Amino acid sequence: MNSQTEKTRNWRWGVFAALILPAMLLAGCESDTGGSGQQEGQALLSPAEGQATAVMAKRSENSLQATMEQGVGGIAIVTNPEAVTVVVNKKRSLPEGYEPKDLVEPNVPFSFDEPHEKRHMRKEAAEALEKLFAEAKSDGIELRAVSGYRSYSRQKSIYENNVRTKGEEYTSQVSAVPGTSEHQTGLSIDVSSPSVNNAIEEVFGGSVEGQWLAEHAPEFGFIIRYPEGQEAVTGYVYEPWHIRYIGTDLAPDLAASVLTLEEYFDDANIKL
Ligand code: DAL
Ligand code: ZN
Repeated sequence: MNSQTEKTRNWRWGVFAALILPAMLLAGCESDTGGSGQQEGQALLSPAEGQATAVMAKRSENSLQATMEQGVGGIAIVTNPEAVTVVVNKKRSLPEGYEPKDLVEPNVPFSFDEPHEKRHMRKEAAEALEKLFAEAKSDGIELRAVSGYRSYSRQKSIYENNVRTKGEEYTSQVSAVPGTSEHQTGLSIDVSSPSVNNAIEEVFGGSVEGQWLAEHAPEFGFIIRYPEGQEAVTGYVYEPWHIRYIGTDLAPDLAASVLTLEEYFDDANIKL
């Protein structure tokens, strides 16, 4: 177990032991009295304890949404492709033929001018992206949208081209098998900056703009989906440019937890 994984495990157990466990015991004692135990029990929680309990409740509620049925070759097919919290990864594919119904073009600067499907995102994510870019601008940070929605057929051609030119092993670390890309959900977008020639490369993570993005994206419902050093958990190398919309309810909690999406939703741990 590496030190980062150990840190996140400790964080989980720390929250459970220090906050959730006492709250559970408290709720149990209260219900023994036969009164309106739950409400009274909650009233006895400190604001911090109450907040932690709410975080865990939200987490399990959303985790349950990520139900799945067994697909071909050990890859599950998600049954909630339209949930903003959907978890798609190497072990969890989108249903065949999935296309989001509410794709729109966010009003943000792109790194290119021509019309293209990659200018789109699902409506809620597009609106959040506009707010994120507006905040960046007001902080003097220049961002560019590079690549949002990707249809199954486009992901197929990107993936196959990568395999042809870079080999299967390298491709598996950087490019998703068609049907398993978050870009197909319409909830992810690659973002860069003119300061690094709009490169979708690790150099963006070290730029002022990349650092700003990592710090502020969660306020607008986005997370850096493939964090540094988490390849064994997410299945992909560090992608400081790839942000994923999961909603403003969860993104700040998840970012503060230092957990990946796979770890946050226990049942989505892909155990590569
Ligand atoms: N680069 C990410 C993993 C994708 O292909 O969806
Ligand atoms: Zn991406």
